Amino acid sequence: MFSSLALALSPWLIGRVSGAVHDLFVGNLMDPARIYSLSFDDVTNEFRRNGNITADASHAWIGFDHTKSNLYGASLNKARISSYAVTSPTTLHLTRSINASGACKNATSAFVEASPWPPYTVYSVSWPGPNACGMALSVDDSGALSGVTRSWKYGSQSGVHGLALGRRGNDTLLYAADLSGDAVWTHRIDSQTGAVTEVGKKAMPRTNMHPRHVKVHPNGTYLYVVMEAANSLVAFSIDDISGAAHDAGKEYSLIPTGSNNKNYWSAEVMLSPSGRYLWATARAQRNMEIVGYISCYLLAADGSIVKLMFMVPTTTTGGWANAITPAFWSDEYAALADTPTGYVQIWKLSEPKDTPQGVEYGTAEAVARADIGDGGCCANAIWYT
Ligand SMILES: *[C@@H]1O[C@H](CO)[C@@H](O)[C@H](O)[C@H]1NC(C)=O
Ligand SMILES: *[C@@H]1O[C@H](CO)[C@@H](O)[C@H](O)[C@H]1NC(C)=O
Ligand SMILES: *[C@@H]1O[C@H](CO)[C@@H](O)[C@H](O)[C@H]1NC(C)=O
Ligand SMILES: *[C@@H]1O[C@H](CO)[C@@H](O)[C@H](O)[C@H]1NC(C)=O
Ligand SMILES: *[C@@H]1O[C@H](CO)[C@@H](O)[C@H](O)[C@H]1NC(C)=O
Repeated sequence: MFSSLALALSPWLIGRVSGAVHDLFVGNLMDPARIYSLSFDDVTNEFRRNGNITADASHAWIGFDHTKSNLYGASLNKARISSYAVTSPTTLHLTRSINASGACKNATSAFVEASPWPPYTVYSVSWPGPNACGMALSVDDSGALSGVTRSWKYGSQSGVHGLALGRRGNDTLLYAADLSGDAVWTHRIDSQTGAVTEVGKKAMPRTNMHPRHVKVHPNGTYLYVVMEAANSLVAFSIDDISGAAHDAGKEYSLIPTGSNNKNYWSAEVMLSPSGRYLWATARAQRNMEIVGYISCYLLAADGSIVKLMFMVPTTTTGGWANAITPAFWSDEYAALADTPTGYVQIWKLSEPKDTPQGVEYGTAEAVARADIGDGGCCANAIWYT
């Protein structure tokens, strides 16, 4: 099961490559429609913006294909998904712009995710709600988007903010965080026909928790869900047979005990490359002068949450974004993108300690920051090298 993800867990990808310069791209959450490239030197901590690329739209979310030769973008102000060829670590070339159609006609989107498995379908969902829909887009041999192949509806109350992909046999599982519908949906995509079938709709443990983003453990054992309104994290077990999100585990707060829940709206959940560290973020509300938080959890090999290692304040509100993206070349680094201040910041785990459950970290520190104050930056950053 999930053997095709073994590549993502190969030892050569993990814990090597300190002493290198790493390239990233970051999209703009709002206009102007631009994507920037950045480079980070993990020896000197020098971090700077390089390329300034005209985009097809401002992209609330960007993601690569499995070879990182294409980048896809979803937009909150244009009802279309865009694809770019990655022509160098600092340049992109727009290859296609596909209008939302079918069940998603005229719908904007806050998320896009490319499947790492053939035929490398790209998935998106509509945001905001109601009547959210999903779309599957095919790609050509180069990875450029070629068209909408399937579309489907979620519920009449639904607004889907985030997606994650899993695997059962040769079939793909698509998990959708339905924020306004307070549910996580699971669809199964038939590997032969591409047919999209609903296999589960899991209500959240309490009402108005507002699941925003989701992540699947590489072994296919757990689905981690960040709750925007509840400011918490819940790991759901995944049903062995159907692949649907199943039982909810313990709820972990993403803000310090005693905080006023209304001052925050949590944003992101992401896994480190070894699958042992789970990062999650809470944003302070936009009109606040307080800051957000980064939490990091230690996971067991099976994906269960062992413990919260630490929760540290961010340096600004993160009001619109606070999207955290772990590096793929080390467990210890992550990039945090902020709107409205407009910057990308590099965080590094520190105070490692050997324990029977593996290496635990005592805290994390911001080691570098690149400001991009164009008024629209920064939605999410992705590591190219
Ligand atoms: C895509 O949508 C835009 C805006 O609605 C429209 O102007 C354009 O003609 C559409 N393109 C295609 C190929 O349908
Ligand atoms: C498309 O969506 C926009 C923005 O929500 C709306 O103003 C417009 O009327 C819609 N167009 C159609 C054809 O539904
Ligand atoms: C998955 O696909 C491979 C290659 O097409 C095939 O050999 C295998 O039998 C399939 N497995 C299942 C469970 O369908
Ligand atoms: C999950 O996968 C990792 C990496 O392949 C492996 O080390 C670990 O034992 C797996 N855990 C379980 C419970 O299968
Ligand atoms: C990117 O380029 C545009 C067009 O030249 C310019 O207006 C904008 O200020 C640049 N962005 C940054 C952050 O320098």
